[in-house]
Amino acid sequence: MNSQQIVEAGKEHVMHTYGRLPMALVQGSGSWVWDSEGHKYLDFVTGLAVTSLGHSHPEIVATIKDQAAKMLHSSNLYWIPNQVKLASLLTANSFADKVFFCNSGAEANEGAIKLARKYAQKHYGPHKYKIVSLKNSFHGRTLAALAATGQTKYQKGFEPLPPGFAYVEMDNVEELEAIVDQHTAAVFVEPVQGEGGVNPVSPQFMQKIKKICDQNQALLVMDEVQCGLGRTGKLFAYEWLGVKPDIMTLAKALGNGVPIGAVLATDKVAASFQPGDHASTFGGNHLSTAVGCKVLEIMTAPDFLSEVEAKGKYFQSRLQDLAVEHGFEGQVRGLGLMIGLPVGEKGPAIVDVCYNRGLLINCVGGHILRFLPPLTVSKDEIDQALGILEEAFCC
Ligand SMILES: Cc1ncc(COP(=O)(O)O)c(C=O)c1O
Repeated sequence: MNSQQIVEAGKEHVMHTYGRLPMALVQGSGSWVWDSEGHKYLDFVTGLAVTSLGHSHPEIVATIKDQAAKMLHSSNLYWIPNQVKLASLLTANSFADKVFFCNSGAEANEGAIKLARKYAQKHYGPHKYKIVSLKNSFHGRTLAALAATGQTKYQKGFEPLPPGFAYVEMDNVEELEAIVDQHTAAVFVEPVQGEGGVNPVSPQFMQKIKKICDQNQALLVMDEVQCGLGRTGKLFAYEWLGVKPDIMTLAKALGNGVPIGAVLATDKVAASFQPGDHASTFGGNHLSTAVGCKVLEIMTAPDFLSEVEAKGKYFQSRLQDLAVEHGFEGQVRGLGLMIGLPVGEKGPAIVDVCYNRGLLINCVGGHILRFLPPLTVSKDEIDQALGILEEAFCC
């Protein structure tokens, strides 16, 4: 099928939940992807922070082939060696002691909401159920994750949402103090908001959140579904903030394209889940956890993360210079290779010009260009992307 046929058949048979470009990607290698017509693009979207090690990474391909030939799935009625190994790797490299595996970011956040409520009710009683999150946050599309998402545009039309959720404006300490109270089970925070427009939470605000959580016996949950796993130049974004969470959620890059999600917690918190409390048929299966182990092995190799940080700094400073040269007043923001640039209403047009010239980027909130290149991107590829962006800024 050519791209026109794919688009037409898609419109006829696939539910219309996404605004898509009229093309289909069929192949990838490293930082590059090809569409069904053979056009080549530099991929600075990475499937929304998923293919962080680039496309068709040889070690990931080999891991998938090898595991597929052995076993894909056996269920959580039995122990799964790769799942145990991945849990050990995740806990050895983070604040956490225990991991629950699932299949996506929203499912990980659902698990975190359930775990936080179970912990709160077990230790303090049924009055402690409230989940507080930040305005402009994004935690997923299932009903509870949507209720935790502090943006009404995603919630409209799906009411009534599950009760017991409240929202606080970023950096508004007064509002935080007023809303987090004895009824609060947990506060959910993305260390860097992704869908909300690439907004890093400051260490000062995160430390304030932690203090207020402690004063109210509320858990701190960090949603690192988008900003975790090397994206910011540290394995986990909370490492920049001087605060450790009680629970953390992961997904996206953990499988480099193979679906996987994870809920990480301290022993004290995780102990509130007992057999029968939570489950997921596919969660932590042989294939996704084999890939997860390989992803972590690559990301924790010497120099990998320091190179991400250095490439992020280079890209951010070149992008800022370019923005200033072309009269954009907004500041480049983000951490590592999770980068945003406010460009006003020109955003969608710039994305279109880049696409036509072979660079995939996207625009969040209609006015912030978001760059999520592979963590394996080369300096030369960053320069090529900047060259295309410069042409787009001139249009
Ligand atoms: C911070 C964050 N949390 C949760 C999600 C939901 O993840 P998924 O689409 O895998 O359900 C996303 C997706 O973009 C996200 O960015």
